[in-house]
Amino acid sequence: MQKITKVIMPVAGLGTRSLPASKNIPKEMLPVFNKPIIQYVVEEALEAELSNVVFVTGREKTVLEDHFDHHFPLEETLERAGKKALLGEVINAANMINLITVRQKERLGLGHAVLCAETIIHDNEAFGVMVGDDLILGEPSGMKQLIDVAQRENMPVIGVLEVAPEHVNKYGIVAGNTREDGIIEITDMVEKPAIGTAPSCMAIIGRYVLTSEIFKYLHDTKPGHGGEIQLTDALKAYALEHKMLAVPIKGIRFDAGDWVDYLTANLFFALKDTKIKPELLKRMEKLLQDYSA
Ligand code: G1P
Repeated sequence: MQKITKVIMPVAGLGTRSLPASKNIPKEMLPVFNKPIIQYVVEEALEAELSNVVFVTGREKTVLEDHFDHHFPLEETLERAGKKALLGEVINAANMINLITVRQKERLGLGHAVLCAETIIHDNEAFGVMVGDDLILGEPSGMKQLIDVAQRENMPVIGVLEVAPEHVNKYGIVAGNTREDGIIEITDMVEKPAIGTAPSCMAIIGRYVLTSEIFKYLHDTKPGHGGEIQLTDALKAYALEHKMLAVPIKGIRFDAGDWVDYLTANLFFALKDTKIKPELLKRMEKLLQDYSA
């Protein structure tokens, strides 16, 4: 497998789970501590050297592109005010990635979103797919863990995490033969199975390394769960004819579309900032006292 540089990020979703906050702001732009969610995802991609980022975007999402571009009036103002650290952060976001955007004109599902980027990917090229709802903190980054396995084994891989049996209906679920190293050779996949019917508890967490061959399967995929063209269904069709691995990702995951996870992620990242950590901890202690009474 050649070096992987491109990553597809479907960002056209309406973000209904984050309403009303996401009514007029794309859910990807909601902040986790001091950065928008999408920047964490992009930074994870960069740790895996995926610097060609394809946003599969939709109406009212141009603000996402703007975040990764220069904002000269702001930069000049910060420069004049001598706010060097902030200026550095603002310029850093502008220089972070080579951004490519394609438009998903109808929201027909995650599989359809990936298919919209077909023309960007060359024949026989491997690429990443990252779903922006999942914030993953791994060492190395979640995406890097997958790319390492994909390149070593020369086949597509999907990132998974074990979830509780009562949560399987929120995810794509994979099943197969677990090797000694914990990696699963996929034999079955199902998108959001009803509780009690899932073939396992290994959930897809929005991180994939695929090859251009998947597009053929996506073209053939009929609407599935929720009437949408599901990436999981295309991956299953592929996995039944080829080899595909599921890699349990080592790290912490936050689902940014779940309010408890979202709020925990905010605290998690804020507590890494030594300037605000002492005061934040004090306030958290006070809240704990007040609310556990
Ligand atoms: C998508 C995928 C699902 C996966 C999930 C991870 O679902 O279809 O297989 O488990 O992302 O975040 P969505 O959350 O977009 O409904």
